[in-house]
Amino acid sequence: MIDYLWATPVLTETAPFDAQQMADLLAYTLQKASYKRTNPPVNKLPDIAAMKLRSHYNLFDAEHDADAPKVWHEFRRYVDKTYRGYLCEAHKVANTDELHIVARCISGHYPTGMRTPPHYHHTCDHVLCLYLDCGQDRPDSATLIREIGDGELVLQDPRPMAGFPFWEKTRYIHTEPGLVVLHPSRVWHETNPFNSSGHRTLLTVTLRVASHNYGDLYVNL
Ligand SMILES: [Fe+2]
Repeated sequence: MIDYLWATPVLTETAPFDAQQMADLLAYTLQKASYKRTNPPVNKLPDIAAMKLRSHYNLFDAEHDADAPKVWHEFRRYVDKTYRGYLCEAHKVANTDELHIVARCISGHYPTGMRTPPHYHHTCDHVLCLYLDCGQDRPDSATLIREIGDGELVLQDPRPMAGFPFWEKTRYIHTEPGLVVLHPSRVWHETNPFNSSGHRTLLTVTLRVASHNYGDLYVNL
């Protein structure tokens, strides 16, 4: 399903993976999160005060393929098919099969109390998230206090100076294991604090169309 939030196409659907596949994806993601902690990525960044990127890696790199479960490759094909379908339906791109698409995948693994502050994703066109674990003992929609939250994805209205009534311009997406969300990378978004027990674990894929645009015209400066 694609909702045109503020005329911005945001896809939400349930991933086509069974319980065992979801368990395999979660186990692999946790394994990679642990690997990331013990093998900090080498950052290739300009020097900007004390800033550094914490996620300078790509789980789709061939170096990670050796120990990946079977569902990992199915997940990758699912992302490709879903993104091409999104471009076709939302943006009326008829020849999506011809597009050269590049992607980067990172894992997120958060304990109770953590949130993701507002951000957008640079160097890509769209972002797809697959939620694998959203914790236990969670409040339902009737008991959830919106101002406290419980790990909902909050999408900001991308229009500058969005008008009255401004408090209705953010969109809250309740996350569950298996939920997939695909949205334009430049939409500012954040995650409410995760207040339940357990962990919140997800895979994030940033996507870029690398052909059929002006990219081929660029030369070294
Ligand atoms: Fe994000």
